[in-house]
Amino acid sequence: NLAGVDLLGEIDRLRKERNAVILAHYYQKPEIQDLADFVGDSLDLSRKAAATDAEVIAFCGVRFMAETAKILSPEKIVVLPDMAAGCSLEDSCPPEQFAAFRAQHPDHIALTYINCSTEVKALSDIIVTSSSAEKILSQIPPSQKILFGPDRNLGGYLARKTGRDLLLWPGVCIVHEAFSETELLKLKAEHPGAPVAAHPECPAVILDHADYVGSTRGILEYAQTVPGDTLIVATEPHIIHQMEKAMPEKRFIGAPGADGNCNCNICPYMALNTIEKLYLALRDLEPRIEIEESLRLKAKVSLDRMLGMAS
Ligand code: 13P
Ligand code: SF4
Repeated sequence: NLAGVDLLGEIDRLRKERNAVILAHYYQKPEIQDLADFVGDSLDLSRKAAATDAEVIAFCGVRFMAETAKILSPEKIVVLPDMAAGCSLEDSCPPEQFAAFRAQHPDHIALTYINCSTEVKALSDIIVTSSSAEKILSQIPPSQKILFGPDRNLGGYLARKTGRDLLLWPGVCIVHEAFSETELLKLKAEHPGAPVAAHPECPAVILDHADYVGSTRGILEYAQTVPGDTLIVATEPHIIHQMEKAMPEKRFIGAPGADGNCNCNICPYMALNTIEKLYLALRDLEPRIEIEESLRLKAKVSLDRMLGMAS
C-alpha cells in the first residue's frame, strides 16, 4: 500500500542512492516525462543508455527500448517499471517467422526497425530508428537487395522517399494505424492552414496529408520552427506535453481516430508505466531486464552498426 508515500520525493532520493538515471520516451505520461533525467526519441535514448555512467537505468518506455539499453550497457542494472510494456510491432514479428522470411531471401540483407525483439535484432544486419533510417539507407549500395521489417508503414514511406525497392514485412503499430483520414480531413477543414506533422509509422493515407514526416524528436523540432499558431500532430498524443511546455502560446491538436478524438491513439503499452511502478522499480531494482549473453552479443552487432552509421 503506497498511500502516504511521497512518491516524487522517494523517487528523487532513490535515484541518488542507487546512482540511477531515469530515461523516458516522449510517449510517457507527462508526470513521468517531467521527473526524468532525459526524455528522447528511440535513437537518443539508445545513445544515452550506451553512454551513461549511472549504475542503474530506470527505463520509462517499452520493453524493446529497455532491452536495447541492456544490450548496449550490459554491466548496468536496467529496470522497466512494467514488464508487460510491449509493442504491437514487436508482436507482429515472431523471431521464428522472421528467420524463415530471411531464409527465403538469402540475397537480401535485413534492415530492421528498432521496434522488435532482441531475437529479431540478433537475426538482423542493421537496426534503424525512424530518425536514422534514411541516413543509414543512403549508405547501403543501391545494388544491395534489402528486406525491411517489422513496420510496413515506415518501410513503405522509406521506399517512396528514397526510390529504393524494399521487401516489406507486414507489421503495423496499432496506435498509428488508428488515425482516421476522414476525421483528419475534417480537422484540417476546421483549422485551415494548420500544418500536419506525422510519424512515419502512420499509413500512407495519413502521411499523404502531412507537411512534415519524422521521428518524435523530428516532430518536436518541426513544431518549434513551423510558423502559425496551430499544429496538428499525428503521433501518440503524449508528445504534445513537450510542445506545450516549450510553446505555451501555440495550439497543438492530436490527430483523431475514427471516433473523432485522439484518445484512441494513446499507446496502451507505454501507458502501463506509472509513477507508482517507477518508485517500486527503483526501490526493489525489479523488474529487471536480463538477456542471455550470446543472444545479446548477436543483437549488439546490428545495433552497433546503427549507432555507427547514424552518427
Ligand atoms: P521514435 O523513434 O520516433 O521515438 O519512435 C518510437 C516509437 O515507438 C514510435 O511509435
Ligand atoms: Fe509500439 Fe506503436 Fe506503442 Fe510505438 S506507439 S511503442 S510502435 S505500439
